[in-house]
Amino acid sequence: PIPEGTGFGGIGFKSIPPNLNNPATGLLEKDLVSVPAGYKAEVLVAWGDPIMPGAPDWLSNASQNAAAQEKQFGMHADGMYYFPLPQERFIGQTLSSLRRSARSFLNQPLNRGLLCVNHEYTQEEILHPDGLTFTPATETTPAVGQPGSQVTIEKVRKSQAAHGVSVVEIFKNGNKWSFNRNSSYGRRITGNTEIRISGPAAGSALLKSKKFSITPNGSVDSGTLNDGHTAYGTLNNCANGHTPWGTYLTCEENWNGYFANPTEDVVSIPGIEKSDILAGQNRYGVSTSGFGYRWHEVDPRFDASTNPLEPHLFGWVVEIDPYNPQSKPVKRTALGRFKHESAQYVVDDNYYVAFYMGDDERNEYIYKFVCAKPLNPQNRDANRDLLDNGILYVAKFKDNGTGEWLPLVYGQRGLTPENGFRSQAEVLVKTRQAADRVGATMMDRPEWTAVRPRIGGFKEIEVYCTLTNNSRRGTEPVSSNEPDGTTGAGSARPPVDAANPRPDNRYGHIVRWREDGRSVKATTFRWDIFVECGDKSNSEPNLVGNIKGDDFGAPDGLWFDDFGRLWIQTDQAGDGLGDWVNIGSNVMMCADPNTKQIRRFLTSPTNCEVTGVVTTPDGKAMFINIQHPGDGSQPSNPTEFSNWPHSQGYGPSGRPRSSTVVITRNDGGIIGGL
Ligand code: FEO
Ligand code: CA
Ligand code: CA
Ligand code: CA
Repeated sequence: PIPEGTGFGGIGFKSIPPNLNNPATGLLEKDLVSVPAGYKAEVLVAWGDPIMPGAPDWLSNASQNAAAQEKQFGMHADGMYYFPLPQERFIGQTLSSLRRSARSFLNQPLNRGLLCVNHEYTQEEILHPDGLTFTPATETTPAVGQPGSQVTIEKVRKSQAAHGVSVVEIFKNGNKWSFNRNSSYGRRITGNTEIRISGPAAGSALLKSKKFSITPNGSVDSGTLNDGHTAYGTLNNCANGHTPWGTYLTCEENWNGYFANPTEDVVSIPGIEKSDILAGQNRYGVSTSGFGYRWHEVDPRFDASTNPLEPHLFGWVVEIDPYNPQSKPVKRTALGRFKHESAQYVVDDNYYVAFYMGDDERNEYIYKFVCAKPLNPQNRDANRDLLDNGILYVAKFKDNGTGEWLPLVYGQRGLTPENGFRSQAEVLVKTRQAADRVGATMMDRPEWTAVRPRIGGFKEIEVYCTLTNNSRRGTEPVSSNEPDGTTGAGSARPPVDAANPRPDNRYGHIVRWREDGRSVKATTFRWDIFVECGDKSNSEPNLVGNIKGDDFGAPDGLWFDDFGRLWIQTDQAGDGLGDWVNIGSNVMMCADPNTKQIRRFLTSPTNCEVTGVVTTPDGKAMFINIQHPGDGSQPSNPTEFSNWPHSQGYGPSGRPRSSTVVITRNDGGIIGGL
C-alpha cells in the first residue's frame, strides 16, 4: 500500500553493516553477497551456464571455445530487465508501467519470464585457460600484453562471443528460481551478430565500412562495403532500458576500447575528409592500442586505420525483442552516438515518450530523446518504430536551479555545414561534437538514469542520474565554464559549477530534475542535487557528503521500483582500502526520495561491482548482477582471488564468475517493503 500524497511505499528492512577489509588478512571480511535478516540471496545464473538448446555445461578450467560460449551466458553482466511470460503479460506490464504501479499484479502468479542481461566486457585472464595472455583489464583501464603473450583468432572469437546480451528464460518452482537450459527463447547476441541500423543515420556514407565475412578462423575482406543499414555485433553493453511496448534496450558504452589505430592515420575514403574521421576517433577515444584487447591484430575489422568507418557502427542504443527469438536487433541512431549508459523512459499524460540517457565519461553530457509520435497503448506493433523519429536533446544545467534541453537538430544552433555538420546523420554520428557546439553542461560522468514512479499522488516527471566521480574538474567558479566546441572528455578540466560542485569529485553524487509542465516535450526543467556521496569519518571536508543514513560512494546503477523506492548500486575501485576504508565493499542502497534517508541493503564479494537491478512485476523477486568478482587478480593469485560464486554455494571452486543473483524474502513479501 502506498499512502496517498507520498508517492512512496516505505522501507521495511534494517540496514546491514558494511563488508570491511580485515587487516589481519588484507581481504574483505566476506567473499559473499549479504542481505538483511529475513532475506535470501542465491546465484541464479553464472558466466558460462548453458542457456539454449545444444549448449554444453560450463567447464571450470575455461577450456571451451567460442562455439560453446555462443550458447552460454556471457561474461561480466551489467544492466538487465525482466519480461514476464506468457507474452500477453507485457500488455499488462505496459499499462502497469504507464501508471507506474504494480498493485494490479499483486495477486497474479508471476512465475516465469525472460531475463535480458547485458555482458559488458571480458577479462581475458579468466576467460581463457592460459589466463596470462594479458594483465587484467578493467572496463576503463587498459590491459597490457605480457612478454611472450599470444593473441589468437580463437581467443578473440571467444571474447566476442562472451560480449553482448543473453536472453534467459527463468522460472520459479516452489520457492526456488532457476534458469531453463533448453528454452526456445534462449538467445545470445554477441560481438558478431548481424544487426539492422535504423533511423536518420541509416544508409549514410559515414556507416559504410568494409564488409567482412566473419568466420571462426578469421574475418575475410569481401572487397565491398556494408550498405549503411547493417552492423555486426554490439559491444560493451553496460546499462540498459526497456520500452513500454515490451522490448529491451542495450546501451553500447566503452566500445572504443576494442578498436586500435596503430598508425594514427586512416586510409582514404572517397568523399570524407581524413581529418574529420581522425577528429572523431580522437573525440570518442579510439587510440593506438585500445584497451589492450588486441582484437585488431587478428581481426582486421577492428583496425581503425584500415577500416576507419567501423567505429561509427558502435556507440548506439540497440533494441531487442526478447519475445521473438528470430527478430533482428536494431541500432536506433536517432538516440545519438556516444558512450551510452542507460535509457529509461517516461510516458507523460498525453502519451508522449522520452528516454533519458547518460554518456559516461568525465565531463560528458546528459541527453533525452523525445519520440515524435505518441505511444499507442492498445497496439504493440504500432509502436515498433517510435525510436526512429524524434528530437535528441542535451542538457544544460544552470546555476540558478533551472535547466534547458538543447535540441541537436541539423541546421539549428550552429549544427551546419560550415561547422562540419552536413546532415542529421552527421549530427548523430558526431553527437558529442554537436553537444559541444551547442554548449551543454559537462557532468561528473553520467551513468544510470532512473524515473520516479507517478503513484500515490506523486504526479511530477522526476528523473535522477548518477554522477559517479570525476578526476578532471577544477576549482574555478562557473562563470568561466564556457564550452568552446573543442573540449569535452578528452582534455577538458572544467571548473566546478552548481550541478557538479566538487573539484576532483571522488565519491560522486546524484542529480535529479523535474520537467516543466509535466511534459516530456518540455525544453526547460528544474533540478537539484539529491545526495552528495561521501564518508562521514573522512578528515577532508570535501569528501564528507550529506548522506542521511549509511555512507557510500561511486553511485552507478540506479532504479526505482514500482513502489517508489530508489535503489542505488555502487562501482568503486578498491575494497575497504583508501577512500573506502569505512565504506568497505561495493553495495546496493535503498533510498526514500522524499526524506532522502538511505539504508544499506546489500554488500558484495571481493573486488566486484554491484550492477543491474529489476524485480518481477509483483516485487517479490529481485535480480541483481555481480560483475567482475576478483577484479585485478588472477585465478593463479590466491591472495586477492575471489572464490565467488563458489563461496555463495554455486558451482566449482577455482575461477570467479560474474553472475545474476536472485533475492527473495523468507516471508514471501515485497523486496524492500514493510
Ligand atoms: Fe560501464 Fe559507466 O559503466
Ligand atoms: Ca560495469
Ligand atoms: Ca555503470
Ligand atoms: Ca561505473
